[in-house]
Amino acid sequence: MTQAILSIQNLKKFFPTKSGLLKAIDDISIDIHAGEVLGLVGESGCGKSTLGKILMKLEQPTEGKVLFEGNDITEISQSSLRAHRKNIQMIFQDPYASLNPRMTVSDIIAEPIDIHRLYQGAQREGKIDELLDTVGIDVSFKNRFPHELSGGQRQRIGIARALALSPKFLVCDEPISALDVSVQAQIINLLKKLQKDFGVTIIFIAHDLGVVKYLSTKVAVMYLGRIVEVAPADELYDSPKHPYTQALISAIPIPDPKMERSRDKLIIKGEIPSPVNPPVGCAFATRCPKAQSSCFHKRPALESISDAHKVACHLLSV
Ligand SMILES: Nc1ncnc2c1ncn2[C@@H]1O[C@H](COP(=O)(O)OP(=O)(O)OP(=O)(O)O)[C@@H](O)[C@H]1O
Ligand SMILES: [Mg+2]
Repeated sequence: MTQAILSIQNLKKFFPTKSGLLKAIDDISIDIHAGEVLGLVGESGCGKSTLGKILMKLEQPTEGKVLFEGNDITEISQSSLRAHRKNIQMIFQDPYASLNPRMTVSDIIAEPIDIHRLYQGAQREGKIDELLDTVGIDVSFKNRFPHELSGGQRQRIGIARALALSPKFLVCDEPISALDVSVQAQIINLLKKLQKDFGVTIIFIAHDLGVVKYLSTKVAVMYLGRIVEVAPADELYDSPKHPYTQALISAIPIPDPKMERSRDKLIIKGEIPSPVNPPVGCAFATRCPKAQSSCFHKRPALESISDAHKVACHLLSV
């Protein structure tokens, strides 16, 4: 396989807190290849946004490497940050909070263009029109303000701004969870189209596996700062191996109400442990319906079970 566009290697991010070190990211390694859409899924607090922020250089990791096209971005200087921002852009959960309420649509989209002094005058206007067209917003919206737009329109503007510098990589941090269900599919379709038309590589962060199903080519499931399973999307949905992934898949609603009522759901019981005092062995052992004594003592490594399918679970080897 070709070199990964992004290679995360033994990444750790610990936050000092009053009660001790909080292990938000606890030794994550994963490769993402150009054109892939990685769905990154896990419960609240498992470290998804922290990972996204490290990729954007909004947080510095405690340990580990992040290679973007072979260069370690954790070591780039403040002066190279501009070049980095051209490569990787982020789309946030709350499109209202992430857009400046006092700026017009036009100026919001053009902000990165202006900072990087890419275009001026008619060329700048042309680029704004092109970006609006790409995200499906009429050019007549150019002089409007964020409060005059719907949630879906605001998220489209956020996406247009992220695309302004033609990035190779987009980190989408729960970009649809604040939107109405009817609008969510439209944004998913837009991201899918961007991936197809521009070949942009995407990390799509979400809470549940249902959301990332139609977009992802590869899915990584996180639990308490670790990746517990990663596989090509089809394989993950067809034959999930980790008990946590299996439970998440069984929680995806089925549109047919009759089937939805009759099927067996795997409910995960109990609370997610604190990342300040994570379990010694497998992080999921305290809630795992299949846990055996070894699970509580030894941390399972993320091991390959086929070409691109990796699982961190002791039960696969017993
Ligand atoms: N700056 C910080 N200082 C201390 N702890 C932090 C900081 N940022 C994040 N954390 C903690 O790190 C853990 C991971 O947080 P993160 O925001 O990455 O989770 P998440 O998976 O994105 O959750 P959500 O689904 O709720 O967005 C949480 O326990 C969080 O409280
Ligand atoms: Mg988050």
